[in-house]
Amino acid sequence: GINTKVEALLSKMTLIEKIGQLNQYSSRWELTGPAPEGVDSMSLYNMVKEGKVGSMLNVTGANATRKIQAWAVDSSRLGIPLILAYDVIHGYETMFPIPLAEAASWEPELAKKSSRVAATEASAVGLHWTFAPMVDIARDARWGRFMEGSGEDPYLGAKMAYARVKGFQGDDLSDETTMAACAKHFAAYGFIESGRDYNTVQIGDPTLHNIVFPPFKACVDAGVATFMNAFNTVNETPATASSYLQRDILKGEWGFEGFVVSDWNSIGEMVPHGVAVDKKEAAYKAITAGSDMDMEGNAYINNLEELVNEGKVDEALIDDAVRRILTIKFKLGLFDDPYKYCNPEREKVLRCDEHLAAAKEAAKRSIVLLKNENDLLPLKKDGLKIAVIGELAGSKDVPLGSWRAKAITNSAVSLLEGIKNVGGSSSIRFAQGPAYTEGLRSFTTELNINTTDRSGMSEARLLASKSDVVVIALGEDCWQSGEGRSQTDISMKGFQQELLEEVYKVNKNVVVVLMNGRPIEINWMAENVPAIVECWHLGSEAGNGIAEVLFGDYNPAGKLPVSFPRAVGQQPLYYNHLHTGRATNGEGNVFWSHYTDQSKEPLYPFGYGLSYTTFDYSNLKLSTNELTEGGKIVVEATITNTGNVAGEEIVQLYIRDLVGSISRPVKELKGFEKIKLEPKESKVVSFEITTKDLEFYGASKEWKAEPGDFNLWVGPNSAEGMAASFTLKKMN
Ligand code: IFM
Repeated sequence: GINTKVEALLSKMTLIEKIGQLNQYSSRWELTGPAPEGVDSMSLYNMVKEGKVGSMLNVTGANATRKIQAWAVDSSRLGIPLILAYDVIHGYETMFPIPLAEAASWEPELAKKSSRVAATEASAVGLHWTFAPMVDIARDARWGRFMEGSGEDPYLGAKMAYARVKGFQGDDLSDETTMAACAKHFAAYGFIESGRDYNTVQIGDPTLHNIVFPPFKACVDAGVATFMNAFNTVNETPATASSYLQRDILKGEWGFEGFVVSDWNSIGEMVPHGVAVDKKEAAYKAITAGSDMDMEGNAYINNLEELVNEGKVDEALIDDAVRRILTIKFKLGLFDDPYKYCNPEREKVLRCDEHLAAAKEAAKRSIVLLKNENDLLPLKKDGLKIAVIGELAGSKDVPLGSWRAKAITNSAVSLLEGIKNVGGSSSIRFAQGPAYTEGLRSFTTELNINTTDRSGMSEARLLASKSDVVVIALGEDCWQSGEGRSQTDISMKGFQQELLEEVYKVNKNVVVVLMNGRPIEINWMAENVPAIVECWHLGSEAGNGIAEVLFGDYNPAGKLPVSFPRAVGQQPLYYNHLHTGRATNGEGNVFWSHYTDQSKEPLYPFGYGLSYTTFDYSNLKLSTNELTEGGKIVVEATITNTGNVAGEEIVQLYIRDLVGSISRPVKELKGFEKIKLEPKESKVVSFEITTKDLEFYGASKEWKAEPGDFNLWVGPNSAEGMAASFTLKKMN
């Protein structure tokens, strides 16, 4: 088996060759272009030849990957193939909705399919390994990487995480259309203080275990090949140096057999973090803590040999890391055929029709209808005069989103194009309004937004005044979210709010199409305009998907995977918060947990979303109100489509553990099911609750269910639902 092969190879390796397997570099000029002045033209080549590189990231394309693989296989003493990685987050060339958007579908199967397509494309250009899924739970919309995860809830997050791993990896890593996945960033990156990227994380053990860990654990259960640690500290220790996270929890309690890669120079960053005097000490701390591969840090390759020779690092630690890495290389089949993934013939799958069709399906299923007064939507296709307004509406690039791998610039179907494709005999005119995204197209430190040039405002207003209905796209440029894109203000930038108000003055039939990578502040819009459709950054087929929703070819069914705030000052905002000692205004005085200038409630709660039809919830039934160890409660509810069109509804089950050894959340999602109902049709949806579902990490410092009373709700979102209660009986 693979173990024997790994041991045989390991026994032939010198110490420096072993350390080489732990060393990962990003693509260099040797592969991409001329040498910068003063650089040894053979440096990377020599390193690979000497067995000092085990992996590369950012080398893409069948030819480039073949070239570098040949260096490793033909020129190094042992010919160990490289494992080649890339950030394939929501597609390779065919772009799917950003992960946050896709989580709004509440369809793990959809996420699995998208990841499968992404792996099919990425593996065709020679890649073996994606740095996805990002499974960080996020609660603070100021954080730019919100877009990359599945939102605020650990239960939904775990389902999406599991599905994505299965999608990327399939059932067999050696299949040439699958790739190794990477659960990242372990751990608690989504809890950085004040939403500022790379910042400090202070987190208590219960939150770490009950909220942050579940999606990571789900990845382990799905057989994920690798983990990535994180830039942030967790309670004063950089995650990369945390033995608790990597050895005790991941490789210990969870029995993870794959390997852990550092984040980009996160080993080196232990020096500025102030926990290591130099990279040598950082290398010592990282390898001791269980961080197996050094991404771009040069900490291992330059220091581990000396650390072993000085007796400070036991070679057994290095052997363990090497074993883990070689095992994945064997599982990928790289020792049988190191070039099996780089086959120019297969590159024709990139952006093929089948993949674009899958992207369209994913796009429309990720859309959330937030508001639809007077049934303004769906629009009729019979000659309506439609004004399409806003820079984002005309953009063929914004919908591709951040973390877009090899998406071709301007390759998305814009909203305007989609409306033209789907709108039948509608008369469609476009006005851009003031542009604001131009300055965002580079890695600049500060947001560079147009705040002076109003041109386009009056043209937009004029067009709106002459039209039957206005479809206006507003929100965020794709480069406002993603890594390093934290903001203190989450309202719309540029002249967007003014544009909306100007248009609304002359035409009240306004449909807002939101494009954004994080929850944004939309109070005025929510108060005034009749229709709002949350469309995130939906990928290659965005415009077609949105238009199918606008014209009713598809009845929207997504629900928010994140609470929408009323003000940035509410952040972090999440539905599964603790109750506090003063949650209500019982006395009518000021001394209770609230804000004096704004409601503490979200504008739209977690799990919220409308449809073109309506659903009625009735007949909540529990098979018993008393649960005993090993037993179960069957919860049933009847859902009826009370409208005139078919539609899908995401039925949600929440519980509250009323009294525990520690304070428990006011609500916790414990189940959901997406069902389709024809007009007037009813279905009974049933959920099972067992003791396992009630377990949490509490005062005993282990996962267990505590006897006592529970509330339960079945409903259409986290703020509404039919209620019941039950008791978990004391075990003997
Ligand atoms: O995978 C990413 C990670 O999420 C952030 N830092 C860089 C890595 C490699 O590109």
